[in-house]
Formats: sequence, C-alpha cells, structure tokens
Amino acid sequence: MTNPLMDPAANPHEIAKRAADDIARASGVERHDIALTLGSGWAKAADVMGETVAEIPATTITGFSAPALEGHVGTLRSVKLPSGKTALVIGARTHYYEGHGVRRVVHSVRTAAATGASIMVLTNGAGGLNPQWEPGTPVLISDHINMTATSPLEGATFIDLTDLYSTRLRRIAKEVKTDLDEGVYIQLPGPHYETPAEVRMVGVLGANMVGMSTALEAIAAREAGMEVLGFSLVTNLAAGISDVPLSHDDVIEAGKTAEPVISALLADIVGRL
Ligand code: HPA
Repeated sequence: MTNPLMDPAANPHEIAKRAADDIARASGVERHDIALTLGSGWAKAADVMGETVAEIPATTITGFSAPALEGHVGTLRSVKLPSGKTALVIGARTHYYEGHGVRRVVHSVRTAAATGASIMVLTNGAGGLNPQWEPGTPVLISDHINMTATSPLEGATFIDLTDLYSTRLRRIAKEVKTDLDEGVYIQLPGPHYETPAEVRMVGVLGANMVGMSTALEAIAAREAGMEVLGFSLVTNLAAGISDVPLSHDDVIEAGKTAEPVISALLADIVGRL
C-alpha cells in the first residue's frame, strides 16, 4: 500500500486525523493527553511510565511507515499514567534522511495532536559538544537550530517559536533533576555524522548537541498548538570533540547502557506533567 502522505494533493492534517481515529479504534482510548516520541536510548520509559493499555504496530495506522532503523521500535502504545492521564508513546520515528519528505517526518506529531495531546515530549540520541558530557548524559533541550533548510509548515504559515521548548515544562523537569543541564540542539539532515570542522561550525552558531531529528517535529508540534518538552541523550561526544571515530553501533550501545537511568528519569518527569 502506498502511503497517503505521498500524494502531494492530500491534506496532511486530514491524514493525521484519520491516523488518530485508527489509534482510538485500535486502543479503545478515545483521547490522549500527552504524547512522547522515544528516540535512541529512551524506549524503556514506555515500560516504567505506567500501564500499557494497548500496543499497536505502527504500520497499521494511516500514514505511518516501518522504522528504517534497528534500535527504533515500530509501535505506538497507549499508556495509562499513575496520574490518570493517558500517554501516547510513539516508538516509530521517520527521519528526514529517509528521504520520504517532511510531511512523513512530522506525521506522528500531527497525529498525536489529533488524538487530543496538548504536550509533546520529544527525545533523541545526540552528539555532545560539551566535553564534560559523558556518553549517557541526558540534556534538556532549551532551544534548537533547524539546519535542514526546510520546514514542516506549508504556505504562508507564520508560527512564533520564541518559547518553543516550554519554559514551564523545563521548570518541571528541573524540579525532578535539579542538576539537569540544558542545551541548544541542532538538527542536521544526516545521515552521515559531521566532520570535526562542521562540529566546530555548529558550536560557533550556538549549538550544544547535534543530531538528525526533533527540530522539524517541534515546529510541527507548535503549529498544532502543543507545548513541547525535549531531551537529548548524549550518546557520544560530537566528531572532533573527542578523537574517537563515531560508529552507529557505539551510539546504540551507549543508549542501551543509559536506558534504565534516563527512562526512570523521564517517567518521573512525565508523571508530573
Ligand atoms: N551526530 C549526529 N547525530 C547523532 C550523533 C552525532 O554525533 N550521535 C547520535 N546521533
């Protein structure tokens, strides 16, 4: 089946609404309050956050695709939190580098909004520019730089991004972990890792973490009226910050090692949203 989002004449917001209807039908949960996209290293948070009410293969939901990557889980889960709120956990991120276009990258976020979610929690694995950040360090995203040279917004859609990574939600995260560092995340298209010269460049531009996701999703979340909370897991020091060459296997491994600690942290934070 071809993905309906590949039809340029289709309305991506209507397709997101259909996807939200699919989720309601498959999960039996009429609306969700909070949505989370769990990137490298964060997946276990879904297990510890609350009680899984339903787990749905992403490929059965309108507009979703199978994950391109090992280490990325291709399901959506409905989780009942101890607070009584419902969370939609998206384990299937479509990356910009997959080449399917921006509409498919942000479809999960638009779907989350269409399920009723007013808070979007975006997580990722990233390279760290701060040499003090050991692999396994979680960092709160305070702002982003979108270096993809594209936008999920179409037409004359002017959206304010001043407080994109909500000050209110960041304050809650810091109540849970007072020494949580904050940083600016930069999204590059990838899929190659950066050269050391590029890492120096993005450092001059003001970035503290570098990765290949999140910024486009955050913009779409804001367009949809959601509050955004973002976290990077530093899986490695960015190229040239340490002399160790980067490998995807090491990135996945660092994520797995850090997973229990950061998942518990995220679950704790989500419990207070
Ligand atoms: N660069 C870009 N993306 C990444 C990195 C990195 O160093 N580590 C994990 N994702």
